[in-house]
Amino acid sequence: MDIFFYAFISLIIPIIKNVMSQVCPLQNGICYGGTFEANKRKKGQYLVGASYKNLSTVRHIQGCFSACVNECLCRAYQMSSTGCELLEEDKNSRTLEPNSDYIYFELNQNIIRSTSYMANPSICKNGCCLSSPCLNGGTCTEQCEHPKTKFVCVCPSYAIGKRCEHFMPKSCLDFYKAPNARIKPTRGVYTIFKNDNSTLFKVYCDFTQPNKAWTLIESFATKHIQEFRPKSFMEDYPLNQETPGNHKKYRLARQDMQMIKATAMSYRATCKFLTRANVTDRDYMEGRLSAWDIIEEASDDPYPEYCRRLTYVNVEGYSCSDCTMALFQKKGTWHAHGEMRHGCDFQPPGYNNTAWQVFGWYQPIRSSFLCTDSEDSTTEYWLGHEMK
Ligand SMILES: *[C@@H]1O[C@H](CO)[C@@H](O)[C@H](O)[C@H]1NC(C)=O
Ligand SMILES: *[C@@H]1O[C@H](CO)[C@@H](O)[C@H](O)[C@H]1NC(C)=O
Ligand SMILES: *[C@@H]1O[C@H](CO)[C@@H](O)[C@H](O)[C@H]1NC(C)=O
Ligand SMILES: *[C@@H]1O[C@H](CO)[C@@H](O)[C@H](O)[C@H]1NC(C)=O
Repeated sequence: MDIFFYAFISLIIPIIKNVMSQVCPLQNGICYGGTFEANKRKKGQYLVGASYKNLSTVRHIQGCFSACVNECLCRAYQMSSTGCELLEEDKNSRTLEPNSDYIYFELNQNIIRSTSYMANPSICKNGCCLSSPCLNGGTCTEQCEHPKTKFVCVCPSYAIGKRCEHFMPKSCLDFYKAPNARIKPTRGVYTIFKNDNSTLFKVYCDFTQPNKAWTLIESFATKHIQEFRPKSFMEDYPLNQETPGNHKKYRLARQDMQMIKATAMSYRATCKFLTRANVTDRDYMEGRLSAWDIIEEASDDPYPEYCRRLTYVNVEGYSCSDCTMALFQKKGTWHAHGEMRHGCDFQPPGYNNTAWQVFGWYQPIRSSFLCTDSEDSTTEYWLGHEMK
């Protein structure tokens, strides 16, 4: 019995020690040779947070080795009582930690250059981008320098990770851009990341064809006008950050407005957004931030400083495109707003140089203007991003 057992063991050990493998993803590309080296195992150690695929049905270490060898992303592998884990990191990029349930193995491969590769060494081809491993619109490039790096993904600004697998939207536009958002997203509350890639906050987004995404920075009902009247966008006056869908009283913190503005192109003011299907057809204003940075810049006398160019404005059915309108804002004094004034282009007929203020300052409150046609009617300000 014992003799038989020893014979069995001595037979199996040399086999395990000498498992060779050669993988050639492409006929005319480079190949990877590797050997399963049982004696290089790290017993009782493992890598935390680096597994990208778990194979619970693979119960033998050689099966785990074969699985790793056949994947371009795999750098190391480990076995535990729950099966085989393929790792996208190895002990050179992360620290092994003790865990008696695990055995860790490094994938040691070398590059075998085919004759066609030798003939044309400037062209790196290993087939590792064929399966489109980069997610969220990342760009894949095959790499032939080192057997542990077979491809790299260059991620768009809204994704991170080796394969750009973590979608990290930083503005409403990212929901438009991301390839997994194939259908046009709909207006509503979305969660985005701050620039640190870890802090989340909620925003209200609207999407307009063909290429714009709008982030709500403020909204208030006419009954709260006294509270908002002196609050220019230079003030930090956060309100109801957790409920951007509450348009009766909402305002983004100034630093969040600034973060969104950093990549925005335009701004707009709308009336009663939540109750109307089309907010551009009446009582609407849109301008470029390059013509007036409403987050950072006051707008005041003297003439013609306050005549600011707008892309489009509509007040009570009167409109003009690519024209100027008197726009005001003053820290601690005036909310951003528009006025009919001599000198600027936008002067609706019937205008008689008495106060007629719109989009954030209403004195008197006009029931003919949609933002103020009832106590619950709202004025909204937005920052706009554009798809290039
Ligand atoms: C694989 O399993 C380990 C241990 O259960 C777990 O920590 C890890 O998150 C899993 N990885 C994936 C990609 O599911
Ligand atoms: C956040 O992720 C983006 C996109 O990958 C990256 O460019 C940026 O440097 C990251 N920021 C931090 C603070 O890590
Ligand atoms: C909204 O109304 C404007 C002006 O009437 C029109 O040009 C635009 O196409 C409308 N937009 C939608 C989405 O219906
Ligand atoms: C000026 O216009 C306002 C608002 O349309 C109106 O209430 C007022 O009667 C007008 N004043 C004159 C002198 O026409």
